[in-house]
Amino acid sequence: MLKLLTIIGARPQIIKAAALSRAIKNDFQGQITEVIVHTGQHYDENMSQVFFDELDIPQPNYNLNVGSGTHGKQTAAMIDGIEEILLKEKPSAIVLYGDTNSTLAGAIAASKIHVPVVHIEAGLRSFNKSMPEEINRIMCDHVSTLLFSPTKAGYQNLIKEGFKENNTAPYSIDNPKIYHCGDVMFDNSLHFSEIAEKKSGIIDQLKLTKNDFVLATIHRNNNTDEPERLHAIFSALDKITKQHQIKIVLPLHPRTAKLLSQNLNAELYSSIKTNKQIVITEPVSFLGMIALEKNAQLILTDSGGVQKEAFFFEKPCIILRTETEWTELVDCNAAIVTDANENKIIDTFNYFIKNRPASFPKLFGDGKAAQFICSEIVKHIS
Ligand code: UD1
Ligand code: UDP
Repeated sequence: MLKLLTIIGARPQIIKAAALSRAIKNDFQGQITEVIVHTGQHYDENMSQVFFDELDIPQPNYNLNVGSGTHGKQTAAMIDGIEEILLKEKPSAIVLYGDTNSTLAGAIAASKIHVPVVHIEAGLRSFNKSMPEEINRIMCDHVSTLLFSPTKAGYQNLIKEGFKENNTAPYSIDNPKIYHCGDVMFDNSLHFSEIAEKKSGIIDQLKLTKNDFVLATIHRNNNTDEPERLHAIFSALDKITKQHQIKIVLPLHPRTAKLLSQNLNAELYSSIKTNKQIVITEPVSFLGMIALEKNAQLILTDSGGVQKEAFFFEKPCIILRTETEWTELVDCNAAIVTDANENKIIDTFNYFIKNRPASFPKLFGDGKAAQFICSEIVKHIS
């Protein structure tokens, strides 16, 4: 029996892990057992526990409770805790998701003591090393044994960085295997789409009319921490609601919630607070989020996950960043990168309201990426 040690910590990782845990439970019982370690990077009820309650993910076997901190302090505490658990549990491999500090900590802790690393969401690049995520994902990929890229572009990035397509088994940190395998988040969106429609009451709770509101999320560190960027984005949102008489729903990440009053000038802050068309809420559950995405007219976001979910649910997306790792979305004209440029955000909104994207091709696999990943792990990890 293979023992996988899965590291989760930030909200999107908890959601991603649901797909693999589901595949293990349904199709790999007797072949794979999973030990789940929550680093505690995210800890508010609505940033963590809500997903366990709703998505049928096993409760973590360990919680390191590291909480928030500077990159160094947070990552160091995680490395320390993860190493101790690896030495005790002696897993066959560690499974890491995405590009957060929890991912990096898992990669460092495991690779140094020769535990094979399985990286899910490998190969994605923004080519912008001022992002902490870019550093985390590059470091993690380069100590991994099995690298599962959700997109063709991600797979090609790995080849450009020297990974070889023709390595043969047995695989190791020095002889890694790269895959283009589809996206576990596409698996999740298919699995939870109808459940969200049936179970989530969020549209009624927020008094929204289906297809007559816009959804926005903002949490990327440069957008929240640089006052000019935060100002440009919120000023654009304020103007859009007034020009179009349309509601914008904003489930606000705690990072953004904390910085809003500090980084917006008093006039804009007051305008946002009194604007009845801007509906600011606490972070919502994943089913709530899917219900909002499915019923929104358009989505504005700086989130990686939300960009893709906009695409899965065939909604035009305005990307509030200078670049995206999910280049396919832009290549097929389903999303436009506006940066934190107020005029560009407003112009792109006006464009998308009149011109819906022509098509949303199937770019993210067949909805069975998690099963594929499990079957390759069973073949190649001993
Ligand atoms: C992290 C990831 C980012 C990912 C995001 C998903 C890193 C470097 N960044 O960013 O890639 O897109 O998670 O949401 O790993 N906070 C709370 N309660 C919580 C969690 C955070 O109040 O439960 C606040 C704290 O003030 C904290 C701040 O949010 O300092 C930032 O949290 P942190 O986990 O460091 O980074 P994120 O911005 O969430
Ligand atoms: N999400 C959620 N509730 C929210 C906001 C986001 O459940 O209030 C989900 C969203 O549907 C997606 C994931 O969280 O699956 C994205 O996480 P986030 O935007 O925090 O991080 P990123 O994907 O940018 O790393």
